[in-house]
This record gives sequence, C-alpha cells and structure tokens, in this order.
Amino acid sequence: MAERPYIVGNWKMNGTRAMLSEARAIDRAAQRYMKVEVAVAPPYTLIHAVHKEAEQIGVGAQDCHSGPEGAHTGDINASMVADAGAKFVILGHSERRQDHGETNELINAKIESALEAGLRVILCCGETLETRDAGGAETFVLDQLKSSLGAFQDPAERLTIAYEPIWAIGTGRTATTEDIAAMHTAIRKLLDETFGEEASSMVRILYGGSVKPENATEILNTPEVGGALVGGASLSAESFLGIVVGASETEEA
Ligand code: PGA
Repeated sequence: MAERPYIVGNWKMNGTRAMLSEARAIDRAAQRYMKVEVAVAPPYTLIHAVHKEAEQIGVGAQDCHSGPEGAHTGDINASMVADAGAKFVILGHSERRQDHGETNELINAKIESALEAGLRVILCCGETLETRDAGGAETFVLDQLKSSLGAFQDPAERLTIAYEPIWAIGTGRTATTEDIAAMHTAIRKLLDETFGEEASSMVRILYGGSVKPENATEILNTPEVGGALVGGASLSAESFLGIVVGASETEEA
C-alpha cells in the first residue's frame, strides 16, 4: 500500500443540513485514527458546510463540469467546488456514466479541469455483471482507465483509482477477495506502465461496492487495496467509523 489507507464516503444524492451532525461525528472520531486518511464527498449543497466543520477529514465533490464558468444552467465546475472547500473530486462514477451518459472522453476533460483547479481526483472504473460473466472484466476496466486518463501528465500523487464493479454497488454483493486482488493487480500493472513504478506507487487503488464494517478488514487486507470508496455505509457516522476502525487494523495502517 502506497500510503495510509484512504476511506472515502460518497454520500451520493443524500443529505440535508441535518447530516452535518454525522459529518461532525466522523471528523471528531477520525482524529483518533490518524493512521487512516478519512474523507467524505457530500452533495454540492453541503460541501462548504462540511468543510467548515472538518478539522481532520478531507472534503470533496462527487463530480464537476469539464469547462470554465459560463452559460451552463445547473452545472458546477472544478474551480467552484474548490472555492467551496473541496480538495478532491470523484470522477467517472458508474452512476454518472449511466444516468448522464458520461464517456471516457468527457471524464478525461473533467480530470484535466479538476487538476487545473488544484483538486485531487478519484477516478472510478468498473464493469457490469454481463461483462464479467463474459470474461471481459479486466480488458474493459483497463480500457476504461486508459481512455479516461488519456495523456495524464500530472504528478501521480494527485490521482486515486477506485475499482467499483457495478454489480456490487448498493446491492449488498461484494466481489470475492480473489477477484478484487486480480483486478487491482492488473490496474497496478497499467499504472506502472503508464507512470513508472515509483510514481505509480503513490497512486492508491480503492475498492468500492457494498463495503461495510463487517467486510472492511478482509477487503482492506487484500493485496493492492489501498482503501475503500463507501456509499450506503457512509451515511451514518456509526457504520462509516466501523469501516475506519477496520482500516486502522490492517497490516499497513
Ligand atoms: P455502496 O456504493 O457502498 O453503496 O455499494 C459505493 C459507491 O458507489 O461508491
């Protein structure tokens, strides 16, 4: 594992100001687990408020527009989320790809604008069950990463990859640790080839898809797993902190 395990909560389209107490609880507890890097990505509407509460945890956005400011009703760009207090942005999540038809090309443009705005990037990838059953998971995921990264030149430490098999997101199903290890190893090889081994070692590869306190330690102890991107279980401080505790008990932490 490159650095401290990285546990990121993706709140998706959940959360009003009532959730700020959860953010506060996560932040206070995270101060007891300094060997784990903890972050949350609330909806846009809460980024600034969570940022103001956060002393220890990182705060990020779940997406951003690829362009500069202008006439795009309803959109928010990278410099706007940075201004609100976000330090990173999740890009290429399968729900963005599915709900908004996001292509690898668009995601590549978003990566560029996010880096320009000084943000770190968590780039998501993952295959459908159909693709996995047809034996094409690895090729699909590596192609997705290659085209989303394009000619990525920025220092690799600003990049995190999240492998999230679509069939494991919000379904209660997790991939087997063998499947996770195989995919993460293949992703690492691609990163080694792309950036060279030294720079690649700075890129953490997170696993996402039904991670919860009960399975966190096993998943986080899997080779090449540098942390977790957590959806449903990040919505309450209690379950999210259960995962942080699991991460603090991994061999690398
Ligand atoms: P989940 O979502 O933990 O609810 O499966 C993970 C994600 O989509 O990032």
